[in-house]
Amino acid sequence: MRTQVAIIGAGPSGLLLGQLLNRAGIDNIILERKSGDYVLSRIRAGVLEQGMVGMLEEAGVAERLHEEGLVHDGFALAFNGRRHRIDLHTLTGGKTVTVYGQTEVTRDLMRAREAAGAVTIYEADDVRVDGFDGDHPKVLFVQNGMSQSLDCDFIAGCDGFHGISRQSVPEGAISEFERVYPFGWLGVLADVPPAAHELVYANDARGFALCSMRSATRSRYYVQVALDERVEDWSDDRFYDELRARLPQDVADAVVTGPSIEKSIAPLRSFVAEPMRFGRLFLAGDASHIVPPTGAKGLNLAASDIRYLFDGLREHYLDKSDAGIDAYSQKALSRIWKAERFSWWMTSMLHRFPSQSPFEQRMQLAELEYVASSVAASTSVAENYVGLPY
Ligand code: APR
Ligand code: PHB
Repeated sequence: MRTQVAIIGAGPSGLLLGQLLNRAGIDNIILERKSGDYVLSRIRAGVLEQGMVGMLEEAGVAERLHEEGLVHDGFALAFNGRRHRIDLHTLTGGKTVTVYGQTEVTRDLMRAREAAGAVTIYEADDVRVDGFDGDHPKVLFVQNGMSQSLDCDFIAGCDGFHGISRQSVPEGAISEFERVYPFGWLGVLADVPPAAHELVYANDARGFALCSMRSATRSRYYVQVALDERVEDWSDDRFYDELRARLPQDVADAVVTGPSIEKSIAPLRSFVAEPMRFGRLFLAGDASHIVPPTGAKGLNLAASDIRYLFDGLREHYLDKSDAGIDAYSQKALSRIWKAERFSWWMTSMLHRFPSQSPFEQRMQLAELEYVASSVAASTSVAENYVGLPY
């Protein structure tokens, strides 16, 4: 088998790259470890920066997004029993974010890929990358028990944090930076109307809470929990009681309870691997970096990586120039580190840290009061939340 670009992973990164390559006439094959249904079963965040909306429009998969997505002009920070609205639209000269689940983005990209007749090999086992430090890379894998080899020009490692691409890079060639947070997020998805029209991020003495949504009839809620908490110890009632205890009264009173259709605990970490290119292997998305979900940047960083990688690959094939792929790692990392900073800042400001001193708690509240009282400070939050320029 042969293709121009071999993509490992059919998550948002791999599917978006594949769709853009298809539209540019650049041949690609995606190899995915799981089934399509399994990929779609993952519940992930769903706040899209304007830049990502633009990329989905360019990829020709934004029709349902514009029909069903919720355009938000702002969000709220809740602390000291009150709510302060960050007016994104006003503070950023008209930019907004769109609430649209990652699962729906993935579904739209999958449908487009199928319609284009592009090749996605699901349930590919024992995927391995080879020869990426030379001119003839290949991807080896097992399909239905048969060993296969895919020759290609380039390999895009879009296989997430636990994928094989980053693991295949010689240890001395890669640097990793990580911070694991001493808490997790217990998340609930329920078919109940959201407690507020916009997202509410709450800093409370009991811990962080977030009110989000997927639509006008489906809510997504989170509460910070200790790392040793088990999801089976959290009934729906216990979850809603804890959520309401952490929210300003008016928001708590508006919470409509209903049976959870998904409930899980996710750890929080900041992680960056540098560089993102190794010969003819490129890392993109979660394969290269992880952010705590507090800044809603995970999916959006995958999109900006793919912006730079697609532009570089298109330049290589259509303009016979390697300037784009040569600059990919440095360009992507510049934006990644700024999003890592914002995500770390939002996480540090909004959560209760087990070892936190009373002084540090006051510093958190002072920082939030400063944001609430300063146009300059709230503008900084707003421009990061809607997404820094690509
Ligand atoms: N071989 C083939 N596929 C693999 C392998 C492998 N060895 N390892 C992992 N995969 C697949 C996974 O099954 C998954 O479908 O790669 C895909 C990676 O997708 P994501 O983890 O979603 O990463 P990415 O596409 O970069 O999207 C980042 O997803 O996890 C969220 O918060 C994250 O919103 C962010 C977004
Ligand atoms: C979500 O809706 O799942 C969500 C929204 C915003 C975040 C994190 C998660 O910052």
